Amino acid sequence: MSRTSRSPRVWRVVRVCGLLACAALPAVAQTKPIPQLVRKGDKFTFLVDGKPFIMLGGQVGNFSALPDRMEGARESFRAMHLNTVEYPVYWNVIEPAEGRFDFSGFDQILRGIRAQGLRAVILWFGTWKNGAMDWAPNWVKADPARFPRVIGPGGKPIRVLSPHSRANLEADRKAYVAMMRHLREIDEADRTVIMVQVENEPGLLGSPRDYSAESNRLFAGPVPEKLAASLKTKPGSWKEVFGREAEEAFSAYAVSGYINEVAAAGKEIYPLPTYVNVWNGGYGTNDNWERYDRPGETYPSGGAVAHMLDLWKANAPAIDAIASDIYHQSPITYLKILNAYRRPDNPLLIVETGRGIACRAFFYAIADYSAIGFGPFGVDGAGGGLRPDMAAIAADFRLFQSTIPVIAELQGTPHLKAAVEETGIGARNLIFGKYDVLVRFNPPGRAPAGTIAQPAAAAPAEPSARVMVAELGLDEFLVMGFDSSVEWRPAQGSDYTAAQFLEVGEGVYENGVWKQTVAGSTSQGDYAGPTVRLPAQGALMRVKLMQY
Ligand code: DGJ
Repeated sequence: MSRTSRSPRVWRVVRVCGLLACAALPAVAQTKPIPQLVRKGDKFTFLVDGKPFIMLGGQVGNFSALPDRMEGARESFRAMHLNTVEYPVYWNVIEPAEGRFDFSGFDQILRGIRAQGLRAVILWFGTWKNGAMDWAPNWVKADPARFPRVIGPGGKPIRVLSPHSRANLEADRKAYVAMMRHLREIDEADRTVIMVQVENEPGLLGSPRDYSAESNRLFAGPVPEKLAASLKTKPGSWKEVFGREAEEAFSAYAVSGYINEVAAAGKEIYPLPTYVNVWNGGYGTNDNWERYDRPGETYPSGGAVAHMLDLWKANAPAIDAIASDIYHQSPITYLKILNAYRRPDNPLLIVETGRGIACRAFFYAIADYSAIGFGPFGVDGAGGGLRPDMAAIAADFRLFQSTIPVIAELQGTPHLKAAVEETGIGARNLIFGKYDVLVRFNPPGRAPAGTIAQPAAAAPAEPSARVMVAELGLDEFLVMGFDSSVEWRPAQGSDYTAAQFLEVGEGVYENGVWKQTVAGSTSQGDYAGPTVRLPAQGALMRVKLMQY
């Protein structure tokens, strides 16, 4: 008889986690613990209020982080089922004149988010926003002699502050530190803000590197010894060490060092987790074939793109996560990026994504890549409601939100897996300890997207089926998803003939405890195996089984 010998320890933890959370509450209210990213082995856990947290984020539009607009977006946040709002803090708004800070709008926005019971991630639009300097204050923009810009290949300044300038760094650092100090004063007790994005899609858009006299001198010199040692390369010039990527690596070194100093100074005041987001680029990450991919032209040079990730990790230890923005629609490209950014030294975090594939990518990201957070961009774009193109992601978040304590515990273990429809892929078999779980992307009446067979209903242009299966115990599963059927069989090679339901029900978790809201029939699967159907609007189900 074939039985698994895997330890059910993690399952016990999952079952009692709700109880423990209550038991651990101190008798006297204390300051909430600071949010933290904790690494154990290869697994990262994001602790908020001391408990595992998965960020169901939504980023507002670039011009939305003003008090009245944020107030007007409340309904969008609710309709999206967010637990976290991501929004910018503009350098030119908080420091309109050098050394004079105005946090009135900052406070108002934060109070509004807190009143909604949501968490926040603030995005520092400082030196860099999409590889340019557009959100720097006018006193910086207007004084290029003091705050030098990148000199492009044609010898002329471009719309980017130079990462080699100490004056630029100091001005940004002072403002960032002032913001972090103020944030600590007004939010330390509540911990509304749980993470900080330092700059936005940094790098040099318009030039592979700075061609100023000072920068030319540095580029002609050797790669700093410490960097070469961390990357385990031979010493040499930038060209000798990095070849074709020399200018990009030179910029990445300058940009990552600059941002590291800004982030480290902020952490000295208020050590919240930090991350840097990325305008993607580089080999195989571009599915826009009308363009080609060159640093400084189609994406900012010096950002933490996949092929610069080792360098960034070595040179920016004050940054806890590198988070690629993913707007690509090809599943090949999307998964390639998830693969590149989920590393033993980097948790997967997606703070900007969107459209078609994103609702399916959520399942891959959470179940197969242990993402600590997922956030579509532009959630407030519908004039106060739910953007139609966000409805599918909102449905994901609605289904998923109550399971966070359970799923966060199972991430990174073999007990959590996703099955996602892609064009031409009609089913997936997920292998667990005692059972093979067959997920078919075949809601009644239609074949999977992109297949030849076309029954009654035509396949939708965009695949829609997506499922997450969590093994809660040897004979117990949590299943959530859309547009699919899920069937259990004894594991291949075991001596059992078939599986049978003992309990089936739809429900939600309340404070970590399962509450069944709709009972399912245990006789489901009379003529086939035990099967549950996940409808187009989605369902969260728990099943208990036996084998005979
Ligand atoms: C990526 C940037 O990081 C965002 O701020 C925003 O401009 C989006 N692109 C728009 O698609």
